[in-house]
Amino acid sequence: RGFRVTDVVAIKDQVEAAVQAALTEVLPAELAGADPVVRRSDRADFQSNATLAVAKKAHRAPRDIAADVVTHVAEGESPKIDAEVSGPGFLNLTVPDQMIWSNVAARLADDRLGVSTSRTGERVVVDYSAPNVAKQMHVGHLRSTIIGDTLARVFDHLGAGVIRQNHIGDWGTQFGMLIQYLDEHPDAAWRGRGAETMDALDGLYKAARKEFEADPAFADRARSRVVALQAGDEATVATWRDLVAESETAFEAIYQRLNIQLDHDNFDGESRYNPALPGIVEALTEAGIAIESDGAMVTFTDGVVNADGDPVPLIVRKRDGGYGYAATDLATIRLRVDEYRADRILYVVDARQALHFRLVFDTARRAGWLPESVHARHVAFGTVLGTDGRPFKTRSGDTVRLTDLLDEAVGRAHAILAERDTGLDAEELDAIANAAGIAAVKYADLSNTRTKDYVYDPAQMVSFTGNTGVYLQYAHARIRSILRKAEQTPPDTTATGTAATSAAGPDAGEPGMLAGVDVTAPLEPAERALALALDEFDQALRDVADTLEPHRLCGYLYAVATAYTKFYDTCPVLTAPNPTTRTNRLALCDLTGRTLDTGLGLLGITAPERM
Ligand code: ARG
Repeated sequence: RGFRVTDVVAIKDQVEAAVQAALTEVLPAELAGADPVVRRSDRADFQSNATLAVAKKAHRAPRDIAADVVTHVAEGESPKIDAEVSGPGFLNLTVPDQMIWSNVAARLADDRLGVSTSRTGERVVVDYSAPNVAKQMHVGHLRSTIIGDTLARVFDHLGAGVIRQNHIGDWGTQFGMLIQYLDEHPDAAWRGRGAETMDALDGLYKAARKEFEADPAFADRARSRVVALQAGDEATVATWRDLVAESETAFEAIYQRLNIQLDHDNFDGESRYNPALPGIVEALTEAGIAIESDGAMVTFTDGVVNADGDPVPLIVRKRDGGYGYAATDLATIRLRVDEYRADRILYVVDARQALHFRLVFDTARRAGWLPESVHARHVAFGTVLGTDGRPFKTRSGDTVRLTDLLDEAVGRAHAILAERDTGLDAEELDAIANAAGIAAVKYADLSNTRTKDYVYDPAQMVSFTGNTGVYLQYAHARIRSILRKAEQTPPDTTATGTAATSAAGPDAGEPGMLAGVDVTAPLEPAERALALALDEFDQALRDVADTLEPHRLCGYLYAVATAYTKFYDTCPVLTAPNPTTRTNRLALCDLTGRTLDTGLGLLGITAPERM
């Protein structure tokens, strides 16, 4: 997937390599391979603190080491990196203009924009979304859906084999109750109504629960229904299948609307694991890991105690003989390790389930089902809050329907777009408002630190300014507009400066030209800052995969858009002083636009051509 014209080496990597090579020359052999500690800097392009870190071990003053490094860097290959000693022995590092232009050109010539496939060969299972059958998907599921989708996309983009699993809640005693209720209320209309089916089922579920609590006779009939379902009674199972199928259809409609890469093949519901559960408990019991407690079978994890200091049990089989969520999750681990050969399993689930996963992972490790070589992570996220700072609910305290939530965001985006003089026709405006509204909701979630609670603020998230998805879409659309105009308007060849080689700008065959970029051209500070920001794309994506924190990609794209705005304010593009400058600046625009497009795409956000 993706072709590469050249191998792009990030500028920062080149600087690191140069400093590291110099350090190896300068330092005693046992300190070879010291971390070059290169960072972006305000004083030069980069700064290295390596000398301070190794000074003690090398028994030399940092400034002394730094001076030697400077000499060695200066002797390095061309194009030469300029190094200077600063303060107590930092190194200020400045890269030649040509290295920067060459990097821009190389990224432009590469389908992947210089992003490496650093996760090739790794198999990653991402367990995300996981709503519950016959229940409305709530904002917690929305978080799981959005975060999981981004992580899956990023790992996939970095070359990993990604297995998406939607562990829907499609099994449990609650279905006995609901099926019994439906049976006794044959007029209840819920089948085949799409999103409304979920509304109807949600209502029926609540009514069933009420009756269950109020009427012991109904409760008994409901319990017999659970037994019938588990025994495979045909009529009962048929209704259960209907419930699952209708719910899946409704979930899929939401995924499509949200541009989530989950479809029918990714459903991996709890019911799938049902046959494996007796074996799970048996194996744990035989190994002495599960023990009896109050009639239930439980496992304990060293050091996990409640507020009273009592060990917290993981219940793998309930007192009534039923299996639950914990046993099922142990079964997911076995399948994912043994059959999917996962190297990494990510459970993108609400932070309130942290204890559950801690106990499940620990039990699985002790049972030998989760070898040390396989990383299992609970990718926890915080609660969505309303603008009042309390968990996000409707005024009446109900779960907010996702469709309503998305409709509101799209409506707000539509109103803002309609006020602007975009020149779009009604149909285009609708499509763009839809893209913007969805982007707003997703980006608001992704740009917040994953583990923290965040406030859902529909007015703020559709803003065209600030760190919003809409702002990034708009930045992208503006760039696309400039590129379209550039195709229509030839450069001003009468202007002073480098002579034009052709009406469309310099010829790609000229010496010093790379992928249409004149790499020998001088570089303005704002061009430099933008190019160095674009150079960090691969690093940003690797950071997301390493930390499982999508907000790092949001922050990166926002920094790129900000650098672009500064560049655009100080460096005229279409009215550049000469054709070479214009061509080079258009190349920077193009690379910025493609970086934003790809980056937003990895957040599951589309980037419209105009806004
Ligand atoms: N259905 C569960 C819920 O709504 C989430 C399941 C998460 N995945 C898992 N493997 N436990 O809370």
